Amino acid sequence: MAKTKQKQSARASAARIIAEVLQQHRSLNGVLTKTLIMLPENERSLCQQLSYGVLRWQPQLQAIADQLLKKRLKKKDGDISALLLCGLYQLRAMRVPEHAAISETVNACKTLGKQWATGLINASLRNYQREKVTLESSALQQDSAKYAHPTWLIERFKLDWPDLWQALLNANNQQPPMMLRINQQHGSREHYLQQLQQANITAEALKQASHGVLLETPCDVYQLPGFEQGEVSVQDGAAQLVVDLLDIKTNQRILDACAAPGGKTCHILETQPNNDVIALDIDPNRLQQIKQNTDRLNLNATLIAADAGNVSLWWNGQKFDRILIDAPCSGTGVIRRHPDIKVLRRPEDIANLVEKQQQLLENLWPLLNTDGLLVYTTCSALKQENEQQIMDFLKRHPEAQEQPATDPPASRATIGYQRLPGDDNMDGFYYVCLRHR
Ligand SMILES: C[S@@+](CC[C@H](N)C(=O)[O-])C[C@H]1O[C@@H](n2cnc3c(N)ncnc32)[C@H](O)[C@@H]1O
Repeated sequence: MAKTKQKQSARASAARIIAEVLQQHRSLNGVLTKTLIMLPENERSLCQQLSYGVLRWQPQLQAIADQLLKKRLKKKDGDISALLLCGLYQLRAMRVPEHAAISETVNACKTLGKQWATGLINASLRNYQREKVTLESSALQQDSAKYAHPTWLIERFKLDWPDLWQALLNANNQQPPMMLRINQQHGSREHYLQQLQQANITAEALKQASHGVLLETPCDVYQLPGFEQGEVSVQDGAAQLVVDLLDIKTNQRILDACAAPGGKTCHILETQPNNDVIALDIDPNRLQQIKQNTDRLNLNATLIAADAGNVSLWWNGQKFDRILIDAPCSGTGVIRRHPDIKVLRRPEDIANLVEKQQQLLENLWPLLNTDGLLVYTTCSALKQENEQQIMDFLKRHPEAQEQPATDPPASRATIGYQRLPGDDNMDGFYYVCLRHR
């Protein structure tokens, strides 16, 4: 009985999810997906809002919580620490009436099986109400709390973007819009916009991406007309600009080397469905997501689970006309969509990722036909993974040259193009197209 009750509280579930991300370094998306299906439908939205909101503002909320608690709670009570953050988040950022926010958060202690914590949560939240101004101004003394990012990442952004780092951090803290990619095999964007209007979904064409649509308010994908029939996919505009750079023609052999969950594989095929596309990913579970997407969109790719860099394991010796490396990266351009990156990413990860990216470039470059194009892209805002990575590559490979974009996808970088998070309300992305001369 107690267990069923536990599963039915949005606040208690959010506290457990947040504690799992903070303490066990699990990804928010993974933990949220498995938790939401156990919650009644009417509790899901609140649980999701709390989980995302608290992780987005965690350094700020924690700085306030630290002042409210005389000492930090024990590790085994990570759920109660997280619940306090949920309570603070509701009082600061949600439209829940304050008395309901406090009483429901206090009740969640019982749902978590920790009756002893009711007094503590109640007193802390009421203290916050009384001392709000002092607590807030004292918390915001530290940059980490002020900008709601870990200190090491703030320092990296400052170094790379001395004039833009504050705007970048601010953009990372915003809730992202929902954008769509219209399947050009099904019909025009104008026609789809009409369908959206008939379904009472307010939307507009994305200026920068020829098949992109921006929704005024995010909605469930199953409310989108024709979603199950493959008329449309969810994809940020910045990601949609990658495929234009590949300049795809008919009868080409194309490798999408880091393909899951398949957003760009599908976009490549929507552009020219009869091309020979090989979609590779090192993670077999994620490869399944490509299958689901190609099935829904009625497209065909050869799917292979393998380390793209270990060419002898999967390559049949036939070169490619186009190669896309959508490289594993720090994700520092998409923090607004994945706020858990602030918690999960460690400073030492960056050098490891740069090395992996370099290996992928080195091992896949020889697979490109003469005159073929290789597009390297990341959703990172750090130069080391982007322009620095490519400048180093070009020094080692005189036979490679940048192919400038006819329609630049973002601001010019030293080499390639960099879109910082929030530019044109899109995700942060780096793009470069290299020709094998
Ligand atoms: C940025 S995501 C790709 C997103 C995808 N291109 C899309 O548009 O949906 C990077 C992917 O690279 C995969 N990956 C990481 N290392 C890899 C490797 N050595 N070989 C192949 N895939 C790899 C990860 O599993 C992850 O799915």
